[in-house]
Amino acid sequence: MKVLAIIGSPRKKGNTMQVVERIREQLLAADKELDFEILRLADMDLQICRGCFSCFARGEESCPLKDDFTFIARKMAEADGIILAAPTYAMGVPALMKNFIDRFAYTLHRPCFFDKSFMAVSTVGGMMGLKETLNQLAILSAGCKSVHKLGITCSPVPIPIIDRRNEKQLRRVSAAFSRAMHKSTRRLPGLPDWAYFSSFKIMTAFKSYRLHCPADYAYYQRRELYFFNFDGHPVRRLTGKMVKILMGCGIKAMVKDN
Ligand SMILES: Cc1cc2nc3c(=O)[nH]c(=O)nc-3n(C[C@H](O)[C@H](O)[C@H](O)COP(=O)(O)O)c2cc1C
Repeated sequence: MKVLAIIGSPRKKGNTMQVVERIREQLLAADKELDFEILRLADMDLQICRGCFSCFARGEESCPLKDDFTFIARKMAEADGIILAAPTYAMGVPALMKNFIDRFAYTLHRPCFFDKSFMAVSTVGGMMGLKETLNQLAILSAGCKSVHKLGITCSPVPIPIIDRRNEKQLRRVSAAFSRAMHKSTRRLPGLPDWAYFSSFKIMTAFKSYRLHCPADYAYYQRRELYFFNFDGHPVRRLTGKMVKILMGCGIKAMVKDN
């Protein structure tokens, strides 16, 4: 098993790095064979997203920026577990991490981390903005097998950052992440997942969207049997169908080109 921890703190030995090191210890205690790699965004060449829409429209390989993006994307694809860790700066993720999220925003349209467990980690001085940061980090977890969140409040004075309460929480979340990662079964999509994916699928059926975003269109053609398999209980299936019809009507009313 491989875990990739991507750290968005500008501080090399800061609180976030210390917490990730502690998570590493916990995960290694549960699986001695685990391959745990840390990537610091501060050490990477990841240029600022230009907002050209190329990744959304024509696919991520058409991004005009030539930097470490492909290297990071490959590392993420190879991992069984992804940890995104960042401090809370001004109620949200710091610039390094925000840019990383922007560069990988195409995975919101075309999720690809189905076989992976995901953990969002943030450290904060107080409590202000912790929830927002964890939610921002978890944005890239669309379709993941499991999603875990860990928020650690650090004292502004230099005392050990992992106190007893933090330690308990860190152990609990790390254990849940490790268990989920080692499970071979894929998570059955719930109604919110299904609604999310269906809304994209319906949108890609519109001519203007299809012409603008052929990459999304191709993706949703391929994923039909794979992710949209909303089987299981008949009530669940029926509810899913009704939601799809309602969403289809709503989107049709907004876009009148088909
Ligand atoms: C620019 C900046 C902004 C910050 N904003 C917040 C904030 O909004 N809320 C908060 O609780 N702590 C805030 N903090 C404190 C950090 O979140 C906290 O010290 C964190 O653990 C730092 O992690 P690091 O050592 O990995 O950089 C801020 C710190 C900095 C440097």
